[in-house]
Amino acid sequence: MEANPSLLDTVGVGDLVLLDPLSEESLLQNLKERFRHQEIYTYIGNVVISVNPYQPLPIYSPQTVEDYRNSNFFAVKPHIYAIADDAYRSLRDRDKDQCILITGESGAGKTEASKQVMAYVAAVCGKGEEVNQVKEQLLQSNPVLEAFGNAKTIRNDNSSRFGKYMDVEFDFKGQPLGGVISNYLLEKSRVVRHVKGERNFHIFYQLLAGGSDQLLRGLTLGRDCRRYGYLGREDPSLPGVDDAANFRAVQEAMTVIGFSPAEVQALLDVAAVVLKLGNVELGSQFQASGMESCSIQDTRAVREICELIGLPESVLEKALCSRTVEAKREKVVTGLSVAQGCYGRDALAKNIYSRLFDWLVNRINASIKVDTSERRKVMGVLDIYGFEIFQTNSFEQFVINYCNEKLQQVFILMTLKEEQEEYVREGIQWTPVDFFDNSIICSLIEDGKAGILAMLDEECLRPGVVTEETFLAKLNQVCASHKHYESRATQNARHVTDASLAGPCFRVHHYAGKVTYNVTGFVEKNNDLLFRDLSQAMWKARHELLRSLFPEGDPQKASLRRPPTAGSQFKASIATLMKNLYSKNPNYIRCIKPNDNKEPGVFTDGLVQMQVRYLGLLENVRVRRAGYAYRQGYEPCLERYKMLCKQTWPKWKGGARDGVQALLTELRIPPAELAYGRSKIFIRTPRTLFDLEDRRRLRLADLASLIQATYRGWRCRTHYQQMRKSQIVISAWFRGQAQRKRFEQMKRSALLIQTWVRGWKSRRLLRELKHQQRCSQAAATISAYWKGYQTRKEYKKYFRSGASATLANFIYRRLLQKFFLGLRSSLPPLVVTDRSWPPAPYKFLANTNEELKKIFYPWKCKKYRDRLTPQRKALLQDKLCASQLFKGKKTLYAKSLQQSFQGEYLGLQKNPRYRALQTAAEGKLVLADTVRKVNRANGKAVPRLFLLTKNHIILADPKAAQPKTVVSLSDIQSVSVTRFSDGFFVLHLNETSTVGAKGDFLLVSDHLIELVTKLHQTLLETTAKTLNLQVADEFSTQFGKASVAIRIVETAEKNGAVPVCKKRGSHKMEVLVH
Ligand SMILES: Nc1ncnc2c1ncn2[C@@H]1O[C@H](COP(=O)(O)OP(=O)(O)O)[C@@H](O)[C@H]1O
Ligand SMILES: [Mg+2]
Repeated sequence: MEANPSLLDTVGVGDLVLLDPLSEESLLQNLKERFRHQEIYTYIGNVVISVNPYQPLPIYSPQTVEDYRNSNFFAVKPHIYAIADDAYRSLRDRDKDQCILITGESGAGKTEASKQVMAYVAAVCGKGEEVNQVKEQLLQSNPVLEAFGNAKTIRNDNSSRFGKYMDVEFDFKGQPLGGVISNYLLEKSRVVRHVKGERNFHIFYQLLAGGSDQLLRGLTLGRDCRRYGYLGREDPSLPGVDDAANFRAVQEAMTVIGFSPAEVQALLDVAAVVLKLGNVELGSQFQASGMESCSIQDTRAVREICELIGLPESVLEKALCSRTVEAKREKVVTGLSVAQGCYGRDALAKNIYSRLFDWLVNRINASIKVDTSERRKVMGVLDIYGFEIFQTNSFEQFVINYCNEKLQQVFILMTLKEEQEEYVREGIQWTPVDFFDNSIICSLIEDGKAGILAMLDEECLRPGVVTEETFLAKLNQVCASHKHYESRATQNARHVTDASLAGPCFRVHHYAGKVTYNVTGFVEKNNDLLFRDLSQAMWKARHELLRSLFPEGDPQKASLRRPPTAGSQFKASIATLMKNLYSKNPNYIRCIKPNDNKEPGVFTDGLVQMQVRYLGLLENVRVRRAGYAYRQGYEPCLERYKMLCKQTWPKWKGGARDGVQALLTELRIPPAELAYGRSKIFIRTPRTLFDLEDRRRLRLADLASLIQATYRGWRCRTHYQQMRKSQIVISAWFRGQAQRKRFEQMKRSALLIQTWVRGWKSRRLLRELKHQQRCSQAAATISAYWKGYQTRKEYKKYFRSGASATLANFIYRRLLQKFFLGLRSSLPPLVVTDRSWPPAPYKFLANTNEELKKIFYPWKCKKYRDRLTPQRKALLQDKLCASQLFKGKKTLYAKSLQQSFQGEYLGLQKNPRYRALQTAAEGKLVLADTVRKVNRANGKAVPRLFLLTKNHIILADPKAAQPKTVVSLSDIQSVSVTRFSDGFFVLHLNETSTVGAKGDFLLVSDHLIELVTKLHQTLLETTAKTLNLQVADEFSTQFGKASVAIRIVETAEKNGAVPVCKKRGSHKMEVLVH
C-alpha cells in the first residue's frame, strides 16, 4: 500500500493503519515517539487518537484553522481540526447529521477536545452579524456550564462533573442556527462533600473571589472560603487558575447568552443559599419524651438564608429539624436525629444545586434554541465524564463507568461489528477480526431484570429494612456466574482469596479494566430522597427561582408516588442519548492520558498501554486494515463522481453498478483498491477516496468554469445578437431615412431638371411653332399679296377706273349707316342732368360723335326749357341771375340753392294791415320781406318791412306798416355784401339822393341772395343798368356827411346770432359774421 507522504513524513506514522509491523508494542512505541515530538494526534483511519500533552501547544492558531479548512483529511498532519473539518463538510455537503464522540479517562483531554472542535467549526462556518451572535452564544455556554459543573479532582483541575451532549444545528448553507444542550447526571454529592485535595464546584470559589464587595454584601457572604463548611474549610487556591477572573468571564458569558441581570442575581442567590446551608449546624437536644432530636446550633446561617429567599425562619428551621410522617391519613411530626437532620440538610443542598444546574442548562437552551421550522442539519458533540477508577468507587463511578461502557458499545457497534456485518451482507470477501464485544457488560448493568441497576431499584423499592448488604447479597446471588462480576462471595465460592476485594464491595470487569465498587451509599444515592418538608419549605419561599426548582413542594400538586430512582433516570437518559448517536454519522476522538500526574512530556507506558487495550485500538487498526475505508451505495456514488468519466457524464444509461464500474475502470483505480458489494462500492484506502474527491473537486471547478463560460458565452451572444438586431433596425431606419431624404432630394432635382428641360423644350417648340406660324403667315401674306397682285394684274382689264373709290364710299356709308342706326337705339335718356353719350365705334367717327354729343345736349336742354311754365322759367332766371352774381363769391349762395325765390314773404294781399304799403307798391311789387336795419349809431338791429317795387325800395316800420323810407332805384349806387354766409348787406346811396342825407343803409336779410338778385334784375329792367355789387371784407359807408369804415370779422362762434354789429369809435364798425 502506497503511503500518503503527509502521514509518513511525520514522526512515526500518522495513521496507525500504516504501522508495520502491527503489534501492541509497535503501536505504543509509535504513540510514544510521536508524543515525544509533541505530535499528540494520530489516526486510525478516521478515528483520532489524542494524547493529552498537559501543556499548551502552538497548534490551534487561526493559521492552523486556515490550513485545515477544506483540506484533504489525509493530505495534512493528523489533527483534531481535520476530523472537525471532515465532519462539518460531510454535514454541509453530504447532508449527513454528524456526532463527535469524545471518549477517554478523566483528565485525558475530552473537554479540551470538544472545545477545539467547537472553536474550529465556529471559525469555518460562515460569518455575519447574526451568525456571529449564535456562535458566541454557543461558545459562551461553555464557561458558564464549566463554572457550575466542573471541579478540581485529583486527576483533573477542571474535571467535568456532568455529562454534556450538545447538538449544534445548522441551516442548509452550513451556518449555525443554534443548539440544544443535554446534561447528564451531575455529581451532586460533591456539593456537600469532596475528597481532600479536590474542590467543590468552581462557581463557589469564583463567586467568593471575584464577586464585587457589593454583591457579596447583598448575598451576606464573606470572601474567605474557609468560613464555609461545604468548601472544606481549606485553602482553595489552584495554581494557574484565577477564580476572580473566571468569575468575571462567567458573568460576561451570561450576558452574551442573554441572561438578564435579575436572572444572574437570582442564580447567585441560590448558589449562596447552598453555601450557607453547609454552615447550618445541628446539635442534639433531648426532648421532653426523652428522645434525642436535633436543633439549630447557630441560627445565623438560617437567618441569612431565609432573608435571601424570603421565607420565615421558623419554617426552614422546622423543616430542617423535624419531619412530617403521614400514617393512616394522620400527620405526625417527629423530630429528627442529628444524623437525619444533617442528611436532610445535605440532601436539600444537593437537590437545590443539581436542580439549579438543570435550570441553568434549560435557560441556556432557551437562548440558543432554533426558532425556524426549516430542515436543519445537526452536529452533536459529546463530552462526557471519562472512565474512572478510584481507590474507593461509589455509585457515581458506577453510573459513570456504565455510561462509558455504553459509549464503547456504540464504538464497537458502529465501527467494528457493524463494519464486519456489512461486509458479510454485501458479500465481500472478508477474514473476520476478533474484538471484544462489551454488550455482555452492558447487559450486566442495565438488564431489565437481572441487571445491577434493576436490582438496586428493586432493593430501594422493597418494603422493609433496606441495607446495602441485602443488595449485595442479591447481586451475589443473581450474578454469581457472570464472567464480568466478582465479589467476596463469588471469590469464596471459587476458593480464591483476593485481599483487594473488601467485604461490602463488588467488582465489575469493565472493558477498560476491573473496578471495585463499594456498595455503601448505593441505596441512598439511588433513592435520592429529599424530605417532603424541605421541598415544601422551599416552595414557600418568595424567591421566584428557588421556588420554581421545587414544584413538588406545592401541596396541591403533592404526589405520593415515588420519583424515579437516580439509576433508572440515568439509564433512561443514556438510552435516549444512544438513540440519538445511532442516528448520526459518528466521528471519534479517543483521548489518552499519558500520565497520572498532569505532567507535560511524561509518557507512562503502563498507563497508556492499559488505555490502548481497553480502547480496543489494536482491533480497530486490524479491522480498518482488513476492511475498506469507505463505502457508498452505487446510486449516490455514481451521482457523485459521474462527472469524472466521459461515459457516465452527463447521464449513464445502464444500471448504477455498471456505471460505477465503468467510471472507476476509466479512472484507472487499481482493482485491489475496490470491492463491488451487492449494493455498495467499497474503497479500500482513504487515499483513493480523497484522490477521487480531489479529481471531483478539480472537475467541478472545470465544470463550473465550463458552465460559467457557456453561460457567459450565451449571455454575450444573446447580448450581441440583441445589439446586432437593434443595430440592424437602427441602421435600416437610418438608411431608410437617409435614402428617403436622398430620394426626395433627387426627386426634387429631377423634377426641377425635368421642368427646366420641358420648359426649354416647350419654349423651343413654341419658338419653332411661332416661327412656322410667322412663316406660314408671311407665306400667306406674300401669297395673298401675290395672289392679289396676280389677280389685280389679271383682272385689271376687267375693272373700271373709279371702282375703288366707289367701293370705299360704299363701305364708308355702310359704316355710317350702321353707326347712326346703332346710335338711334342707344341714345341716352332725355334727362338734363345726364350728360352721357355712347363712344364712337370707329376712330374715324370720333369727331362726328363728339359733334353729335354737343348737338344732342343743348337740344335736350331746349326740349326741357320748352316744357317749362313761365313762372318756373322766371324763377330759374332769377336763380341764374343769382348764380351769376354770387356763385363762388359768397358762401351763403350755396345755402340759397335749395330755397325757392318766393318774393312775397309778408302776405301783403291777405293782411289788411299792410294796405298802405300795398297802395305804395301799386302793383309793381317785386319783393316784400322783413329785414333788420342796423342802427348806425350803436350797431343794434331793428326789424323793418322791406318792399322792392319796380321803382323803389320802401322801408317800413312793422308796427305802423307805413312806408318810412322810400328810396328810388336810381339812387342806389351800389350794394356791398360779405364773403360769408350771413345776410348782412349795405345799400350805398348816391350822394344826391333824397334820402341820401341820412346816408347808406346797413341791413340784414334772411333772403339776401333773392333780395339782391331781384334788386339787380329790377334795376336792369327799369334803368338798364347793372347793379354795382361789391363782395368785400371792408367797405366804407356814408352816414350823413361822415363816412364809416365797416370791417367784416369772422368769428369762430357759430351759434350766436349773426351778424353782430359793433361800433368801434365814430368811424368804425365791426360786423361779426361766420
Ligand atoms: N490539547 C491539549 N493541549 C494542552 N493541554 C491539554 C489539552 N487537552 C487537555 N489538556 C490539559 O489537560 C487538562 C484536562 O483536560 P480535560 O479536557 O479537562 O480532561 P477531561 O475532560 O477528559 O477530563 C486540561 O485542563 C488541560 O490542562
Ligand atoms: Mg471533562
